[in-house]
Amino acid sequence: MRTIQRRTFMKGSLAAAWAAAHSRAQAADAQTADAASPASVTLTPPMLQIPAPTSMGVAWGVATLSTGFVDLGTKADLSDARRIFAGDGGLRALDSAALAVRLTGLTPDTTYHYRTGTIPVDFRGAYKILPGEATLSEAHTFRTPGPASPSTFAVINDTHENHPAIARLAAKIDTFGPAVTVWNGDTCNHLDQMPTMIQTLLNPGKCGLAVSRPVLFTAGNHDYRGALARELPRLLLTREPTERESPYWTLGRNYALRQGDLALLGLDTGEDKPDWRGEWGGLAQFGPYRELQARWLADALERPEIKTAPFAVAFCHIPLFDDSPKANPGDLAEGYASWQRQCHDLWSPLFERHGVQLVIAAHTHKFRFDAPRAGRAWAQLVAGSGCDTKPGRELTVIEGKASGRRLTLKVHELNAGAVLGEFTFEARKERT
Ligand SMILES: [Fe+2]
Repeated sequence: MRTIQRRTFMKGSLAAAWAAAHSRAQAADAQTADAASPASVTLTPPMLQIPAPTSMGVAWGVATLSTGFVDLGTKADLSDARRIFAGDGGLRALDSAALAVRLTGLTPDTTYHYRTGTIPVDFRGAYKILPGEATLSEAHTFRTPGPASPSTFAVINDTHENHPAIARLAAKIDTFGPAVTVWNGDTCNHLDQMPTMIQTLLNPGKCGLAVSRPVLFTAGNHDYRGALARELPRLLLTREPTERESPYWTLGRNYALRQGDLALLGLDTGEDKPDWRGEWGGLAQFGPYRELQARWLADALERPEIKTAPFAVAFCHIPLFDDSPKANPGDLAEGYASWQRQCHDLWSPLFERHGVQLVIAAHTHKFRFDAPRAGRAWAQLVAGSGCDTKPGRELTVIEGKASGRRLTLKVHELNAGAVLGEFTFEARKERT
């Protein structure tokens, strides 16, 4: 018989205890949570994902088959907390890798306090399910985005499972404290071992990267590779279907978010070789996926809160052009993309029409800035890498901040302790 370690607060049936003694349990939780060690049933700190004005995702890695919940309130002691369980419909979640809760019904521009609870479940059979006791995480805070939120962001990319490098990036981000971190693809090399995936995706840098500052994830080519690539949404969440129009229910990776004066637009360039290449074994269909994103983008750019944002910045992993005639546009029979021609041709006209000022890309591990020019009104900033820690290589984090009528981008390079570039953008023309 398996013994489940009991570390915290509730006795007996958790559900019954919760229904019968909510306020008493809350008080007990608050007193005992600090003494509990969540390490036995949780593998990672909570990770905030896909912030939205009225919703927020929370996911965390678990060590054993578990269900779980998030306690959410506006008071620091969580005395006004409501408890939201992971799961859909009539069943609560039961997962041996990660648990996730989408918190909904939130108020924009508001600070919330939360903690996670993890309940190990000894599932012996259809009629013999033995829940353990809940282990609580520490309490953390987050702020929902909205027009009054800070107009700030950070960008990291191409971290490729390098935890020490990510820890350095995270420490740098803490020095300027943006509202949100964009994780611009290639979190991994490939996805084929769940224990590694849990650490890579939910514990990057092993430093609590996103316990209080949410992550906006835009997928890179490597994030689609490996036998477990289709398990990625268990860890890095997609948006709920109810958070997008029905023609776009399959586009869970795209986002159009108003963050202060910024409209942040997330696009997915997909794999770095065409769908028909033999490497994919007939399992790739990124072509129509990119086309559908263009239709979504056209609608998203018309949304009032996006249209009225003084600044519009798009994020995608693979650059959208490269002036070198030798650069591979991602639709050739050989090699791999250093830019993505199909995405450029689909999305660039929309950037032009709606005054998107900047595309921030990744993928090449080499910083460059392409200023606007005749025929292309938008700039492209290609970041360095998030995993190259050797002297002379580029370990970069981008700091973005809008203040007054000006957006400033600063590209920090951590190996040399230098700033590779600083770029400013005027507010776009008022759009009604
Ligand atoms: Fe890449």
